[in-house]
Amino acid sequence: MKLLVINGVNLNMLGVREPALYGKKDYKTLVREIKAHAKKIGVKVACKQSNCEGEIVTMIQRALGKYDGIVINPGAYTHTSVAILDALKAVMIPTVEVHLTDVDAREEYRKVSYVSEYAFLRVTGKGFDGYFEAMDAIKARGAKQ
Ligand code: DQA
Repeated sequence: MKLLVINGVNLNMLGVREPALYGKKDYKTLVREIKAHAKKIGVKVACKQSNCEGEIVTMIQRALGKYDGIVINPGAYTHTSVAILDALKAVMIPTVEVHLTDVDAREEYRKVSYVSEYAFLRVTGKGFDGYFEAMDAIKARGAKQ
């Protein structure tokens, strides 16, 4: 089983951006921990990050036929991007939405999530552990949609 973990806008700034909210660990550490978790549960994983909405759409399109599951934290694009939602609906790859913070307990504008319309599971407010939980959920669901 091959998983694609996509981190969107500003997630490359982990460790620097608002540490009280997002923690002190950086993006490199997140990738390292995701890879270690993948090894532990016996799946293959690729981690990609982009600050550009269109690049994220292209990543999702290119995942077709290559990956069995997508874990995505689109960052602020969660709350605005119909394009990312449409790309996920186009490829029909089982997807879990992850947020480091509890987005529903924050500002009103963070309560809207387009990706949620497609994702079969949403994990919020669990920090890095949310990514591991997402990976476990895709593995448990199996390779087929
Ligand atoms: C985030 C929450 C979003 O509202 C925010 O714009 C982010 C990160 C999270 O992981 O908690 O960039 O997706």
